[in-house]
Amino acid sequence: MHLRRSDHHHGPAEVPVKFLLEDPEGLTGTDKQEWDVMAAKGEHLLEVAMDHGINIEHACGGVCACSTCHVYIEKGMEHLSEATEAEEDRVEEAPGLQRNSRLSCQCEIEGNGPIVIRVPAWNRNAVKEIPH
Ligand code: FES
Repeated sequence: MHLRRSDHHHGPAEVPVKFLLEDPEGLTGTDKQEWDVMAAKGEHLLEVAMDHGINIEHACGGVCACSTCHVYIEKGMEHLSEATEAEEDRVEEAPGLQRNSRLSCQCEIEGNGPIVIRVPAWNRNAVKEIPH
């Protein structure tokens, strides 16, 4: 699925974002669990991850029509756009729902960070386990 990208101009990449990967092998093909990257305001977290080779699932292409891009915001929720009603309805379908659950394709960076995101292992597994 082609990734929907944020369509407006981004500022400089000056917001520190840390990704904590529970399944680095499945998401990146490496064993690196912590990724420190810089992002720009206006970008959404899914595209920041994808731009750095962290392949978070995004079955619907980032249009809030699935819940495969589900992540946990461990720090810096206040630096992200607020969840819309559509996102709140959708994220409830995600396995492992927590208070800090968000859909990464819907979280636009608004503040200066830092932002820490945990990508659960089942982000990959949920898709792999579908029976054929
Ligand atoms: S990619 Fe489908 S809701 Fe985010």
